Amino acid sequence: GIPDFVKIVEVGPRDGLQNEKSIVPTDVKVELIKLLVSSGLSVIEATSFVSPKWVPQLADAKDVLEGIQDVEGVSFPVLTPNLKGFEAAVAAGAKEVAVFPAASESFSKANLNSGIEDNLARCRDIASASRSYSIPVRGYSFHFSIVTCQSLQKSYDIFRGFLYISCVVGCPFEGHVAPAKVAYVAKALNEMGCSEISLGDTIGVGTPGNVSSVCCHVCFFSYIGFDCSGAVCTVVPMLEAVLDVVPVDKLAVHFHDTYGQALSNTLISLQMGISVVDSSVSGLGGCPYAKGATGNVATEDVVYMLDGIGVKTNVDLGKLMQAGDFICKHLGRASNSRAATALSKV
Ligand code: HMG
Ligand code: MG
Repeated sequence: GIPDFVKIVEVGPRDGLQNEKSIVPTDVKVELIKLLVSSGLSVIEATSFVSPKWVPQLADAKDVLEGIQDVEGVSFPVLTPNLKGFEAAVAAGAKEVAVFPAASESFSKANLNSGIEDNLARCRDIASASRSYSIPVRGYSFHFSIVTCQSLQKSYDIFRGFLYISCVVGCPFEGHVAPAKVAYVAKALNEMGCSEISLGDTIGVGTPGNVSSVCCHVCFFSYIGFDCSGAVCTVVPMLEAVLDVVPVDKLAVHFHDTYGQALSNTLISLQMGISVVDSSVSGLGGCPYAKGATGNVATEDVVYMLDGIGVKTNVDLGKLMQAGDFICKHLGRASNSRAATALSKV
């Protein structure tokens, strides 16, 4: 059944902002995080200690952490791709980090400039370093990921802004990520001691179906001529495969809403016993220049749904909307949250 309490991991300041072309000033990021804190959120992914060449928007990671150092009672995990990032994060006062290996070889290369195994080795290094500081490590296991390479990026502007990458030229194209591969990465993250493992539908193609033997021929993969045999688009078999190897209380889900499926996918994950949901205030994320590439499921919509079905989150929707309003005004953009848009007209 659905859990009584769901922990929301707010990823707006990191996942939501990382693709924004124009640099958001540090004080705006800090103010956003503080507004999110006042809404009652207990975990807010604050920023990333990644290469500023890859993600220029988050080059001020150290200053953002400095700006929130006095905020107590809230976890602020930060993304760390390697030991260099981990050490910088610790020096800046991070108390929780997240590693993010991919379940797809080519995506791993595009996002991290190295393959799955190399990345898992880096994650292990981070995990063992973190033990000496008693720092919990969160792990992302991407699924439904897709390679991004320069030629593809030119042809399909859905990729533009999807990630800031110095693209790997001519890498092989890999659409389908088998549930077993996601499970493999999730298991590895669990074994290296990750406190939580978040399953990410990076480009939002997943549906809440449970049939993995047919290709629906309508998603992005089919559009570019890839027959995925259904497995790439169905969340349930992926969750089942992961649940076979990782305890349910260690899992989180991370759905991007590119195809409008994120809330349905969230609900089906809750029905399968998962009680941690990643989301982004106002559905921030994606890129204004990228047709179709959108952000995470909007936190307001998740809270609205959970309030409606009687699941506690300890998040105040009205205050959350104020945080959403603040950042949307700054970005000069309408909210991607349906609930916030509707409620602001009431
Ligand atoms: P690389 O170029 O292979 O790194 O990038 P390198 O080790 O060869 O070093 C190259 C340069 O980067 C050097 O500087 C290093 O010092 C520097 P230079 O000598 O040229 O001046 N460098 C760093 N600088 C700052 N922080 C660091 C760092 N490491 C090296 N940590 C690297 C490899 C991993 C650094 C790069 O690929 C990278 O930063 N990737 C991050 C990509 C990223 O952040 N993607 C978005 C997040 S993932 C996501 O959004 C998905 C998720 O939401 C889940 C989902 O949706 O499914 C999590
Ligand atoms: Mg994401």
